Amino acid sequence: MATLPEKLRDRIVKSGPLTIEQYMSEALSDPEYGYYRVNHPIGKKGDFITSPEISQLFGEMIGLWCAVSWQQMGSPSDINLIELGPGRGTMISDILRTIDIVPEFKKAAKIHLVESNRELQKLQQKSMGLSSENCFWHETFDSVPEAPFLLLANEFLDALPIRQFLFTKSSWCERQVDFDKEENAFTWILGKPQTSNPYLLEFTDRKWSDGIIYEFSELARELTEKISTGIIKNKGRALLIDYGYNQNQGGDTFQAVQSHKYVDPLLNAGDADLSAHVDFGAVKLIAKKIGVKVNGPITQRDFLIQLGVEVRAKKLMDKSSTEQAINIKTGLDRLISRARMGELFKVICLSNFDTPPPEGFEGIS
Ligand SMILES: C[S@@+](CC[C@H](N)C(=O)[O-])C[C@H]1O[C@@H](n2cnc3c(N)ncnc32)[C@H](O)[C@@H]1O
Repeated sequence: MATLPEKLRDRIVKSGPLTIEQYMSEALSDPEYGYYRVNHPIGKKGDFITSPEISQLFGEMIGLWCAVSWQQMGSPSDINLIELGPGRGTMISDILRTIDIVPEFKKAAKIHLVESNRELQKLQQKSMGLSSENCFWHETFDSVPEAPFLLLANEFLDALPIRQFLFTKSSWCERQVDFDKEENAFTWILGKPQTSNPYLLEFTDRKWSDGIIYEFSELARELTEKISTGIIKNKGRALLIDYGYNQNQGGDTFQAVQSHKYVDPLLNAGDADLSAHVDFGAVKLIAKKIGVKVNGPITQRDFLIQLGVEVRAKKLMDKSSTEQAINIKTGLDRLISRARMGELFKVICLSNFDTPPPEGFEGIS
């Protein structure tokens, strides 16, 4: 049976170059070989590590944020607690443990996990243990039933495929993936010049200079629209956390990570994690257009500190052995230090207008 690179090669030879969106979709989601269908990507033994895996402090802070949000929404007796792309289930487990202190919320919450990887679904079930009676899995956000909701997504939007356009000689050319038969390798090629770029006109009016790449994720746009529409219709709040930028200044952020190292995105399709930085400026504009309230984006550092992560860490350290205390401090530093995840990672909150401002964003937006 053909491998994923062979499948992609045959498709290109037959029908021509693929957009990055097509290449990324196949590499991540091919039912047989897609990276997020078959791999166990997260953790020390995987390809990368995420905030909830670094420290329990992360999930605990998000758990408290959820509990306060539920109260701010008027403590509904039924609420969907939705997580997009829960990975190993660490964050949702930490959240469920944390909200033990608000039993009415825990009772009200129905857990909906949107996860395309069946193996990870099993792992999530295992991580949550007995606390999972009220838990439902979905392949996509579309099948989550309608009700008031709190939605969380950590490092989900970055996995949504993007397209790239290069500005050259006053035109836009789409960057595409071709196959070079002589070299027997995937290679970059530029599509036909277009005088306008529909995404660009919508999201910025800045002047572009030769050689600049503009990225856009249509799938991130669709998801943001669906979440925002859901918020207006059913009431709710979404907290989206990811690496990304507030303003699209142009540039290529398409990347591949394998065994904790950056690799060439055109190599090892299906075996490396492909992602791109999230355009939070676009998320904000899209959500505002639909009519939801937007707080942020702010840095992960500011968000966690405002939620009290340092105080919580100190409490934990005071009760710990020296070795445990060092681990807690190291994890905290990694989450909030400017040089690590503190600045690169951003947090944005979308909510309906008739709830008080979400925790963690005070004085910032
Ligand atoms: C980068 S991991 C982040 C995991 C987790 N949120 C964390 O912070 O550890 C992305 C997660 O989203 C899931 N995923 C990726 N693309 C998806 C898609 N299109 N639909 C549903 N789940 C997807 C992956 O299987 C994985 O669980």
